[in-house]
Amino acid sequence: MQGIIIIIITNYPFKQRIHGPKVKYQSILSNSLLRTPVLFCGVDQCKLTCDDVLTEIAVGQGTINFKVNRTLLAENVMNEVTKKGSSYGLSSELFNDYPRGRIIVEFSSPNIAKRFHAGHLRSTIIGNFIANLKHALGNEVIRMNYLGDWGMQFGLLGAGFQQFGSEEKLKSKPLEHLFDVYVQVNKMAESDENIKLAAQEFFRKLEAGDKSTLAFWERIRCISIEEYANIYQRLGVHFDEFSGESVYQKRSHDFLRLLEKKGLLKKTKQGTGVVDLSPNGDLSIYATVVRSDGTSLYLTRDIAAAVDRMEKYNFEKMIYVTDKGQHTHFQQVFQTLKIMGYDWAERCQHIPFGVVQGMKTRKGDVIFLEDILNEARSRMLKNMSASKTTKELEDPADTAEKVGIAALIIQDFKGPLLSDYDFDWDRVLQSQGDTGVFLQYTHARLCRTYENGPQAQFNPASLQDPQAITLLQHLLRFDEVLYKASKDLQPKHLVNYLLMLSRLVSIAHRTLHVKGSLPEVAQARFLLFKATCSVLANGMKLLGITPVEKM
Ligand code: ARG
Repeated sequence: MQGIIIIIITNYPFKQRIHGPKVKYQSILSNSLLRTPVLFCGVDQCKLTCDDVLTEIAVGQGTINFKVNRTLLAENVMNEVTKKGSSYGLSSELFNDYPRGRIIVEFSSPNIAKRFHAGHLRSTIIGNFIANLKHALGNEVIRMNYLGDWGMQFGLLGAGFQQFGSEEKLKSKPLEHLFDVYVQVNKMAESDENIKLAAQEFFRKLEAGDKSTLAFWERIRCISIEEYANIYQRLGVHFDEFSGESVYQKRSHDFLRLLEKKGLLKKTKQGTGVVDLSPNGDLSIYATVVRSDGTSLYLTRDIAAAVDRMEKYNFEKMIYVTDKGQHTHFQQVFQTLKIMGYDWAERCQHIPFGVVQGMKTRKGDVIFLEDILNEARSRMLKNMSASKTTKELEDPADTAEKVGIAALIIQDFKGPLLSDYDFDWDRVLQSQGDTGVFLQYTHARLCRTYENGPQAQFNPASLQDPQAITLLQHLLRFDEVLYKASKDLQPKHLVNYLLMLSRLVSIAHRTLHVKGSLPEVAQARFLLFKATCSVLANGMKLLGITPVEKM
C-alpha cells in the first residue's frame, strides 16, 4: 500500500501519521530511549513484532494499532530526565552528526538616535533564541550587534546637539535625549538651509576623521551602547560584540579597490558603481556598491563586514536576523561575496521575519525598547493584582516583568517567523490559552507542587494512568522538537510543544493527586510533575524566557 499509513496508539489520545514509502519514524516506536530506530518501508515490509517495547499489535484497515510497554516508558523517560537535567533532549542521538563549529549570530542591530521599532524587538528575541539553541547544542556562539552608527543622521545629530543639546539630559536619559534632538533638528532642517549645511559639514568632518567631531561621535556611541546593554539585560539578552556600520566605513573602500582590481566593478551611466549579478553578464541584475559621489553604501559596508568577520573568526556559519524587507539586500551581499571568489558565502544565512502591526503603548507609538518592556510590566502587574498570591511575592514588579516578557516572546514565536501579525496587548497577556502567561503560570504551579515531596522509592509501575502516560509520551518527544528547531531555526516547534506540555500537565494535575495517595503512587506522581517542570523550564530558557517560581 502506498500513501499515508496511520498508526494509532491504542488508549492514548493521539494519532501519529507516517508518510510512506520510506520514512524513519522518529517517535515513540523508534525513540532511542526505548529502542533502536525502526525503518518502515510500506506496510508489506513493515516488521513490527511484539517485544519488550510493544506489548500488543493489531492491524486494522489501513491502520496499525499497538500498545507500548508503559512501565518501560515511565522508567526510561523518568530516569533520563533526572539524569540529564538541563541537557535532556539536547544530548539525544539525533544530534550525533550535528555540526558544532563556531557560529556568529548577528541580531537586534538598532540605529543610534533613531526609533527602536517592533522589528528590532523581533530581531532581538529571535536572534537570542537562535543563539541560545546553538549554544545549548554545543556550538561556540558569538552574539553580535551591528549598530546603525554611521551616516547622515550623525551629521544632523551633531548639528542639532550644538544648538539644543543638554549634557545633563544626555546623562540622565541618553537615548531619549538623542532621539529628541534628532527629531527636532530633522524638523528644522526641512525649512532651514543653514541647519542642512551645518549637518553636511558635520558629517563631512566626521568622514574626514576630524578629531573633535570623531570624539563627539565616539562619546554618543559609547553612551548609547551602555544604555542599550542595560535594557537588553532586562530582556535577558547579552552581546559579545557591539559592531556597527562605522567600523566598516573605511574598509568598504579597500573592498571597492579589490573589486576594481578583479575587474568586477562596473560603472553605470549615472556614475554609480555596480557589480553584475546576472547569469548572462548583461547587467540585468546588479548590486550598487558605490554612489556617484564615491561614498559607500549599506551594502558595501555589509560585504566588508562579512569578509572581516571571516578573517577574524573563521566561522562555520553566520546568521543574520532581520525583517523580510532586507531579503534582497542579503541575497546581494551573499552573491557579491561569491562572485568575488569567497566560497564561504554559502555559510552565510539570512533569517527573515514578518512585520508586526499596531504595537503601541499607552503613551503612543513605541520609540524605545524600554517603552515596550515598561508597558508589558505595568499591564501584567495590573492583571496580577487581582490574584491573592501576588501579595506574597517579594518583588511583584520583577515577576510581572518576567511574565510580561514571556507573553511577548510566545506571541511572537507561535507562528512561522515569516508571518506578519497584529499586536494586541489584551490577547498577548491572557492568562488562559496559548500565551506566555499560561506557561509561566503552569511553571509556577509545578514549582509549588514539589516544594516538599513524599519519601518513597520510585516505582514506574505507579505511573499507569492514561494522563500520566500521555505526559510521558510527550516528554519523550522533546529531542525531536529540538531537532526540528535546530534544522529550520523556527521557534514555533518548541513553543507549541511547551504549550501542549502545559495543557497535558494541567489535565494530569486535576486527576493525579499527590496528597492523599499511597506513598508509592504519591512519590511517582510527584517525580513526574518535577520532571515536567524541569523540561518546561529548560524549553522556556531556550526561548529566552526566565521561568518564575511564584506568581
Ligand atoms: N540597522 C539595520 C536596521 O535597523 C539592521 C542591520 C542588520 N544587519 C546587517 N548586517 N545589515 O534596519
